Amino acid sequence: MRIVILTGAGISAESGLATFRASDGLWENHRIEDIATPDALSRNPALVHEFYNMRRQKAAEARPNPAHLALAELARAQDLTLITQNVDDLHERGGSPSVIHMHGALNSALCAACEYRWPAPDVMQPEDLCPGCGATATRPDIVWFGEIPYHMPQIWQALEEAELFAAIGTSGNVYPAAGFAQHAARNGAECIELNLENSANSRDFSRHIIGPASRTVPEWVGTLIS
Ligand code: APR
Repeated sequence: MRIVILTGAGISAESGLATFRASDGLWENHRIEDIATPDALSRNPALVHEFYNMRRQKAAEARPNPAHLALAELARAQDLTLITQNVDDLHERGGSPSVIHMHGALNSALCAACEYRWPAPDVMQPEDLCPGCGATATRPDIVWFGEIPYHMPQIWQALEEAELFAAIGTSGNVYPAAGFAQHAARNGAECIELNLENSANSRDFSRHIIGPASRTVPEWVGTLIS
């Protein structure tokens, strides 16, 4: 069975990484326009790098939880396309062989001048030089608001071929990811949502499993590979 799964910040919450829209979420303590737009980097690169250096350190200290491990097990048993909005590498460290990071990754650095990419150092600073062209135009390899998510042609293709689509730990607030269930359903896929609570697009799913991902995802994966 062709399965496509989208994960969001909720799958990493029990690994200790903050989500965005919870009461103590990242967007409660930071203004998006100050740290997650290209203009923010031009205006105050030190603040932007400080925010992502902090997130990079917390991600490095975090450990994959049973939800990450279960999706890696699923990939070994089924035809799975795993798409994540997350920028941590917990899916990879949990054993998933292939992960599509549609919003980029904390462990990758990007040159805004020449688009060269390289493994991000633990701490990025505004004065860093691009190893490719030497410009001081380095930035976290993260897709910011107003920018186009990565790998979209591959993602739309997978959604059109999916027989089962699942969204795990995402609030369904940010497009295009929030439209993936509708796109998959239009092509005949069953859509299931695994989340701590109803999301903004729960109506797009025919099944809902409510609860913490570290419990619900292993249980659900167990029904797919037994
Ligand atoms: N288990 C399952 N779901 C959980 C858990 C958990 N332990 N903890 C939280 N959740 C759910 C919340 O109920 C919420 O619906 O995870 C969701 C997290 O939502 P957001 O914080 O909005 O994160 P996400 O949906 O990934 O945000 C999408 O928005 O700001 C942008 O680029 C950013 O990729 C991000 C995108």
